[in-house]
Amino acid sequence: MEAERKRIIAVLPGDGIGPEIMQEALKILEAAGKRHRLRYELKHGHIGGAACDRFGEPLPAETRRICLEGDAVLLGSVGGEKWDGLPQEKRPEIGGLLALRKLLGLYANIRPLTLFKELKDISPLSSSIINQGVDLVVVRELAGGIYFGRPKSLDEDEGSDTMRYSRREVRRIASLAFRMAAGRRKKVTSVDKANVLNSSMLWRRVVDETAQGYPEIELRHMYVDNAAMQLILNPRQFDVILTTNLFGDILSDESAAIGGSLGMLPSVSLGETTHLYEPAGGSAPDIAGKGVANPVAMILCVALMLEYTFGEPAASKEVHDSLRSIISRGYRTPDLASGDKAAKTTQEIGDAVCVYLNGLPPVRTHSSLDPKGA
Ligand code: NAD
Ligand code: IPM
Ligand code: MN
Repeated sequence: MEAERKRIIAVLPGDGIGPEIMQEALKILEAAGKRHRLRYELKHGHIGGAACDRFGEPLPAETRRICLEGDAVLLGSVGGEKWDGLPQEKRPEIGGLLALRKLLGLYANIRPLTLFKELKDISPLSSSIINQGVDLVVVRELAGGIYFGRPKSLDEDEGSDTMRYSRREVRRIASLAFRMAAGRRKKVTSVDKANVLNSSMLWRRVVDETAQGYPEIELRHMYVDNAAMQLILNPRQFDVILTTNLFGDILSDESAAIGGSLGMLPSVSLGETTHLYEPAGGSAPDIAGKGVANPVAMILCVALMLEYTFGEPAASKEVHDSLRSIISRGYRTPDLASGDKAAKTTQEIGDAVCVYLNGLPPVRTHSSLDPKGA
């Protein structure tokens, strides 16, 4: 059998809680990698404020190089008050993260909400809503919209941005959402503001056109203000939420809150070749450096990577199972802890996941199934 190709993973911890949660995620990648005999090489790099401090820019040439050469990028988070006053191109968010998304041509950001039933007690929604089960994914357009539209301006008296979408951009993200829905509950809710915004009127028209190629998928349109409310009232109604860059940013944080913490929501961004994996949440300056950040979103990024980059769904499922198991045994960081359960540290969560993975029965490889050992 041909040896598995070695994957190159760029590792960018970034700022705030980024390095703390990254450390745990890498342990889990190592444990899963050993079990499943994955071949990969990590290339460490700097991004965001950490890169600004060291190299004077948020996305240094060396970081760009390892990301472009990599099969995947694993990113912690960027940003913090210390760098908020820098000129825009030096800001961790704009010159770092948005520039990296642009560089890699990442146009789709997938944010799947996994609702651990073991955490029902910490969801702010009532148990009558949560007990119905919530299983949704936000498919956020990532390369266009108001984030990148030109012109933009800022002076003493006025600031402006342009919300713009082209037919090609909408069709590209809509097709991906329909394809994802085909493997799920076959429902797409496209969220826009087509009662007011021109860019949304085009969005809706092109989503309708694209839908004609997917007759098995049920499509409905919803205005973003209503969608924000429906997510809280009845999240079960959603399967795939297809939306713009800005609305997806907002609705995905809201969907994370349904699960009880922003620290639980991973994401994968897809483009032409390289995939980028990053938690939906930010650098959490309020808790950074205290060893209490929730590493689950970052660990779920590894699970997504095992599935999308390594093509190892079984390994990915093991990571999910391990999280479920340790959470049910009370392993929770303070954002998830409730009642009399003492909170665990970031590191204790990572260690417990590794112990679980290392304790699983060995993986049956092709050769061990083959009587001739071929
Ligand atoms: P944030 O997501 O960093 O934090 C919002 C709240 O969620 C905070 O109370 C924080 O403690 C909590 N939280 C987030 N992740 C958590 C985790 N893993 N465990 C426990 N609690 C967690 O958003 P913010 O405070 O609005 O922004 C802080 C900085 O992060 C800003 O500079 C912002 O631009 C940046 N940011 C970066 C990214 C990214 O790198 N992808 C995403 C969002 C925000
Ligand atoms: C996210 C973040 C980023 C975004 C910022 C930090 C640029 O909020 O990934 O959700 O708005 O896309
Ligand atoms: Mn966001």
